[in-house]
Amino acid sequence: MSKHSPYRVLFVCLGNICRSPAAEIVFNAAVKEAGLAGAVRADSCGTASYHTGERPDSRMLAALERAGYSYGGHRARTFRRADFTDFDLIIPQDHSNKEDILALARNAADAAKVRGMWEWFAEGETERDVPDPYYGGPAGFDAVVALLARAMQRLVAEELQG
Ligand code: 4NP
Repeated sequence: MSKHSPYRVLFVCLGNICRSPAAEIVFNAAVKEAGLAGAVRADSCGTASYHTGERPDSRMLAALERAGYSYGGHRARTFRRADFTDFDLIIPQDHSNKEDILALARNAADAAKVRGMWEWFAEGETERDVPDPYYGGPAGFDAVVALLARAMQRLVAEELQG
């Protein structure tokens, strides 16, 4: 695990209304299931500010509900440099998000905290990123939740229990 208790994990996407709030919710459920709820703290944010203050996209909340997850309340916010200090692990949902965050890193220690969500994809996974579902239909939102659920099992096992 880490030096810090609680261990602080930040999920990042573009708008902080679809993928990263879903990642936070699915991660929290996996953490709770593993009996680690008190030892971990998660948050999410976006690299872009155009949805700041908004609730998660209703289509994403519907997909989460279909998969049995409950939403605890979140308002979109933008990634800030202080997040490099405030979090132990920073997880962009796609490669573009990762580049945008790395461009803000102050030093090698900051950059080392940034690890793409795909690092926990299983070998047979066909996606390279957590795909942006924003411009598609409900199936895309369901696919994101399912992909995240598979990846979070590995993340919890490898980073929190390993
Ligand atoms: P997210 O999805 O990055 O997963 O929150 C998006 C949200 C908003 C936009 C694009 C993606 N947008 O272009 O407004």
